[in-house]
Amino acid sequence: MSASSRAAGTEMVIFGASGDLTRRKILPAIESLRRRGELPAGFKVVGAGRTALATEQFRETAGPEAEWCRLDYGDPASYRALKELVGSSRTAIFYLATPPATFGSIIHSLSVAGLVKKGDASRRVVLEKPLGQDAASARKIDRDLAAALDEAQVFRIDHYLAKDTVQNTLAFRFSNSVFEPIWNRTLIESIQLTAAEEAGIGTRAGYYDQIGAVRDVVQNHVLQVLALVTMEPPTSFDPPAIRTAKLEALQAMQPIDAGEAVRGQYLGYLEEPGVAADSRRETYAAARIVMDNWRWDGVPIYIRAGKALRRRATEVVIRFRDAPHLRIGGRRHRGIPTLLVIRIQPQEGITLRIGAKLPGARFEMVPAGMSLEYARLSRNPLPDAYEHVLREILAGGNSVFPSGAEIIRSWEIVDPLLSTWEHEGHPEPYARGSWGPGAAEELVAATGGGRWLNPGEEPGTTTD
Ligand code: BG6
Repeated sequence: MSASSRAAGTEMVIFGASGDLTRRKILPAIESLRRRGELPAGFKVVGAGRTALATEQFRETAGPEAEWCRLDYGDPASYRALKELVGSSRTAIFYLATPPATFGSIIHSLSVAGLVKKGDASRRVVLEKPLGQDAASARKIDRDLAAALDEAQVFRIDHYLAKDTVQNTLAFRFSNSVFEPIWNRTLIESIQLTAAEEAGIGTRAGYYDQIGAVRDVVQNHVLQVLALVTMEPPTSFDPPAIRTAKLEALQAMQPIDAGEAVRGQYLGYLEEPGVAADSRRETYAAARIVMDNWRWDGVPIYIRAGKALRRRATEVVIRFRDAPHLRIGGRRHRGIPTLLVIRIQPQEGITLRIGAKLPGARFEMVPAGMSLEYARLSRNPLPDAYEHVLREILAGGNSVFPSGAEIIRSWEIVDPLLSTWEHEGHPEPYARGSWGPGAAEELVAATGGGRWLNPGEEPGTTTD
């Protein structure tokens, strides 16, 4: 290693750099930060992994400045070349885009090789989800981290927290005084959170067939968004206060009862390249979440997430209680349920669906929407979540990362479900392009939730 290749700038070392996530999310986000001049001077990407990928080859995907370092995750002695490369960097970021089972050995090796030091904030470790595969393995990861690093050096990624519309949930709820008084069991009839994707698993079978929908998106993205929607007002908008409020909301969520959950698998999944012919892995999960606290006692709350569904849409629907009395022309009418729809993506925004009088001589009610279209708030396009995450890591900020305690609690919520599904039964098949298995409709109907309110299908909630 020549002295000239030793950098005094910022290096981001990506473990698992030949993987899908690096190609699809991390490298494009770095590239667009670079184009906008937002990378620190002398910023460099270093790929690190077990394969003997040559630097030239890595540069084809990671850009002309990138370097490649071959090492064995669990062998600190093999980190020597990496130390040569980044040992004198001003800032070194170790980004673990590898399976969670490798985290412990990589963290240990980084520490033994002297690449990270407890308390040295210029040495940071970034962990990609899933952080573990259950609560026990997540606790172990936290112990490994605590042995080598201070908490301020650790960044646990959940890119949903970096989505602008997710952050806006906080602004919406807590910077307007009109919502808090009605945000509880007194006026809210039910809550539904849908995280639907139109795409199937594509070429990701190697990852997904080991993981499934609960570990892939429910344990992290879905529960984080639900925590923001259901949490108590934080004492401030500062990250530690928000994390505390989210953790309390997660603590109020009871571990999911497999009897109140549905798992599905889209027809054709077993034929996807790389999927085991007898795979029981779920590509869809729906569940009722019981929140055991004053605010939400008895309110039916549902979540669902899946691949190969009707359309790509992540949204939260808050259904308010019907007006107690509506008498028109001597007849009692059922009102039009008031819905507040928080559209995380696409068509980012918030719509309040209300009942309105249809213009004309007769008193006739129709559903109508009052809408905030998020894109209209700014001339700038919505920032990409991974860019936001990287910007925060480069700046050493911590506003969009969940804490280890939140992650462990989220595993505790899904663990009973995962272990039942591991041992019992089969997923319910559903057609590609549907809204998932029929059993999910039955779940909602049987537990007092009415029916699923599908994205883009409720009159008065769509923007077109
Ligand atoms: C990732 C999951 O965390 O989130 C993917 O691993 C999923 O399976 C993705 O497709 C969804 O993210 P987004 O930002 O496209 O909604």
